[in-house]
Amino acid sequence: MVNVLFVCLGNICRSPTAEGVFKALVQREGLSDHITVDSAGVGDWHIGSPPDSRAQAAARQRGIDLSKQRARQAVAHDFERFDYVIAMDSQNYGDLTRMCPKGGDDRLFKFLAFAPQLGINDVPDPYYGGDSGFDGVFDMIEAASAGLLDDIRANHL
Ligand code: 4NP
Repeated sequence: MVNVLFVCLGNICRSPTAEGVFKALVQREGLSDHITVDSAGVGDWHIGSPPDSRAQAAARQRGIDLSKQRARQAVAHDFERFDYVIAMDSQNYGDLTRMCPKGGDDRLFKFLAFAPQLGINDVPDPYYGGDSGFDGVFDMIEAASAGLLDDIRANHL
């Protein structure tokens, strides 16, 4: 089993979208028995909340249902449970580096490293922007999801 965790700041916009998009891709490829997908936030503000309604709407337009997800906070133990701990941006990456147990940082990645063709390092935080930010974020997440699956196939399956 390959276990994948997406992490952003609040776990209500970017990482739930990544969880939904990547889970759908895994299902489509018939790999649900081989890959698990989860998401979490660095912060604790939104624990127990469903994804932001704007993130849900952007995903729904592309056929992905985020409504059943509930936010949780990332913990150090996640570095033992998950093979890939994937940060949405450099700030999340830095926070996770500090949380990570010794030797665990070989499991820590930046999501857009799996989509080098975009030439962008960070999935921007859409929380304080308008609805169009969510569509752009969705496109980046789709591109990086494809690259992540290639990486898992090459290294684990
Ligand atoms: P996310 O977006 O990290 O993509 O879930 C945010 C959601 C909430 C906050 C920040 C970012 N907040 O400060 O409450």
